[in-house]
Amino acid sequence: MKNKHLAPTLKYLIPFIFTIVMVLNGCTKNAGTSAPTNVDFTLDLNSSSNSALSKNGGSMGINNILIIRYDNGLTKRFYATQLSCTYAQCNLSYLSSDYTIQCPCHGCLFDVVSGTCLQGPAIKPLGIYKTSVNGNSLRIYE
Ligand code: FES
Repeated sequence: MKNKHLAPTLKYLIPFIFTIVMVLNGCTKNAGTSAPTNVDFTLDLNSSSNSALSKNGGSMGINNILIIRYDNGLTKRFYATQLSCTYAQCNLSYLSSDYTIQCPCHGCLFDVVSGTCLQGPAIKPLGIYKTSVNGNSLRIYE
């Protein structure tokens, strides 16, 4: 008889405890991985391995850097940020539909250009890198 009354209580208690643990655990994050340093590499934009960058809105991760093609009118423009989220290090992806970088794990959103966190739980901005295009060569550097 006692177990019959205990079961509904546990049904609600266990998810409640799980939620509290997740929230408290979340508050201890945001230490963030350091953004990669000494970044300086080039990509051949004609290479098939970099074909994700052949169209406006394309993106790819390489060397722990997220590279995004975000054209301005007729000009090819590229942006680069650290690939991992500053909250709990999940790999980020570019949402071309709203020009933001999204983390799939807890829903953070970051600004493509500045790396600023637009929506938490992350607080720390992304490390950003310079880019330059010379012919078909894209350079990503600090
Ligand atoms: S790791 Fe959770 S929002 Fe990025």
